[in-house]
Amino acid sequence: MAAGIVISKLIPIISYVSFLDLFVSFNTITPTSPTSPQDDFVNCLHRNTNVSFPLEQTFFAPSKNVSMYNEVLESTAQNLRFLSTTMPKPEFIFKPIDESHVQASVICSKKLGIHLRFRSGGHDYEGLSYVSEMETPFILMDLSKLREIDINIEDNSAWAQAGATVGELYYRIAEKSQVHGFPAGLCSSVGIGGQITGGAYGTMMRKYGLGGDNVLDAKIVDANGKVLDRTSMGEDMFWAIRGGGGASFGIILAWKIKLVPVPKTVTVFTVTKTLEQDVGKKILSKWQVVADKIVEELFIRVIFNVTGNIGNKTVTTSYNALFLGNKGMLLEVMKKSFPELGLTRKDCVEMSWIESVVYISGFPSQTPIEVLLQGKPPKPKANFKAKSDFVKNPIPESGLAGMFQKLLEADSGLMIWNPYGGIMAEIPESQIPFPHRKGVIFKIQYITYWPNSDKRPSRHIYWIRDMYSYMMPYVSSNPREAYVNYRDLDLGQNTKNTKINFEQAQVWGAKYFKDNFNRLVRIKSKVDPENFFRHEQSIPLLPV
Ligand SMILES: Cc1cc2nc3c(=O)[nH]c(=O)nc-3n(C[C@H](O)[C@H](O)[C@H](O)COP(=O)(O)OP(=O)(O)OC[C@H]3O[C@@H](n4cnc5c(N)ncnc54)[C@H](O)[C@@H]3O)c2cc1C
Ligand SMILES: *[C@@H]1O[C@H](CO)[C@@H](O)[C@H](O)[C@H]1NC(C)=O
Ligand SMILES: *[C@@H]1O[C@H](CO)[C@@H](O)[C@H](O)[C@H]1NC(C)=O
Ligand SMILES: *[C@@H]1O[C@H](CO)[C@@H](O)[C@H](O)[C@H]1NC(C)=O
Repeated sequence: MAAGIVISKLIPIISYVSFLDLFVSFNTITPTSPTSPQDDFVNCLHRNTNVSFPLEQTFFAPSKNVSMYNEVLESTAQNLRFLSTTMPKPEFIFKPIDESHVQASVICSKKLGIHLRFRSGGHDYEGLSYVSEMETPFILMDLSKLREIDINIEDNSAWAQAGATVGELYYRIAEKSQVHGFPAGLCSSVGIGGQITGGAYGTMMRKYGLGGDNVLDAKIVDANGKVLDRTSMGEDMFWAIRGGGGASFGIILAWKIKLVPVPKTVTVFTVTKTLEQDVGKKILSKWQVVADKIVEELFIRVIFNVTGNIGNKTVTTSYNALFLGNKGMLLEVMKKSFPELGLTRKDCVEMSWIESVVYISGFPSQTPIEVLLQGKPPKPKANFKAKSDFVKNPIPESGLAGMFQKLLEADSGLMIWNPYGGIMAEIPESQIPFPHRKGVIFKIQYITYWPNSDKRPSRHIYWIRDMYSYMMPYVSSNPREAYVNYRDLDLGQNTKNTKINFEQAQVWGAKYFKDNFNRLVRIKSKVDPENFFRHEQSIPLLPV
């Protein structure tokens, strides 16, 4: 009886041949050994793809080989908070080796009623690509074996599969040309699959905009398991996937991106000031005035770092920059617009664009560019929590003084200020879902991090929330904007109660997307009416 129901549910989607297969597999299963979710999934995949997949290299389950399972789960997961023993774990992990496996996985998770999470580069700040706290059991599809990159210099474009990192993409571009680049993230280990879904900013954003502003086409698996491209998905969905956040509309298989010109020689510098070297905050105040107005070839971010121990704790302020031009031109620009920093010829290092990627990513100098192929960040992994803000008026000296005070209270705190302006101020807010454009001087990222051995991790979370509330008067308001790729569940989250979800989501949705949120909701309701793609901060359906 039960088997009969299962079969009749399957009939509409399986072909005649696979219908026979079904009976073959039923015959081989003895009634005394009930099938596991993985067996059911594997059987279903076989019926829905004709590209075979060696089980040992594509399926990882705790019951089969727990150390291998843990290794795969941990591989690209960046935030140790979400790997702790108390976090829910996927029933099993599947690593597709063919795009048809991704399609089949959508069809099979739907059919078997098991919640699906998927991961490209594993950098989600709240671990949503590999942990579901909202819904268990769940399974994980890891796209890391789908990482082909195809560069076409003749027409200034490239196709990159979702599992590739941005570092790999940059490396493959540089392999073909010294004068082409792409303006996505500055941290090389991030996945191109997830990153562009939220915007993707980096050192060339003031000149060329975001990664999401430079997408020409995409291949995506929708909620029905169909592969769509720009033409077949239509302009609404194509708009939504370039900034509307990961895992709400479908699974990106590959992005087609537009390459941008870069000079043969670029210049980088990092100038660090101690508290004593900028007592009156004159340098930092001047940065706030020029950061978004200086020539768009120049990107100067500020990294605030808390160092030292009790007794000699201090905050360093590092001006870390990329200039799309040579040393001489850079020194001229700085002398004219930002002499307070005191940049000297000795501070400036000329290099190729691809070398600057390694430098800005934070690897030690002289690290070979091949490090970009390893998909690893320069620092060991930690537990972390981060938040973001956008600043539209320079923060007055009094505000800065209190901010430094708060930083000194942190045990391990970082703050990164990221300049806007340039083309970012010219692209309309509604061009893609990413709305933080005109009027933004800079974005703040707050980070706190700690090792697994830390006995009182909650104090770091307390610190960052306190810092965030201190900053309220100095940052954007109504809404207090936030960057969706710096996912922050403090802003609100979905539960299984869809009605409450919508009201809550209007709050965090406005922060991430401003008015674009309404259009995202309409598109979501159209392309995924059953809410197959759901997580703690997925775009909700219009309430009915
Ligand atoms: C160390 C570090 C540095 C960073 N640097 C930058 C930076 O310089 N610039 C910047 O803009 N951002 C940066 N980020 C943020 C980063 O862009 C986001 O975390 C991004 O979502 C990561 O993409 P991913 O593929 O690595 O992550 P994942 O964790 O794999 O995915 C993130 C989200 O997208 C979904 N997703 C994953 N793959 C797909 C897919 N193929 N199709 C649809 N949805 C998918 C996931 O389910 C999840 O919800 C950084 C993050 C970290 C941890
Ligand atoms: C799978 O089989 C179908 C029909 O038999 C065929 O059209 C298709 O090309 C095959 N796909 C692959 C990837 O082999
Ligand atoms: C911040 O300071 C700590 C302690 O000195 C150091 O280990 C870390 O690398 C610094 N981080 C950055 C981003 O500069
Ligand atoms: C001060 O901090 C530095 C590291 O930042 C450390 O090497 C040094 O020992 C500290 N001195 C004291 C007195 O704690």
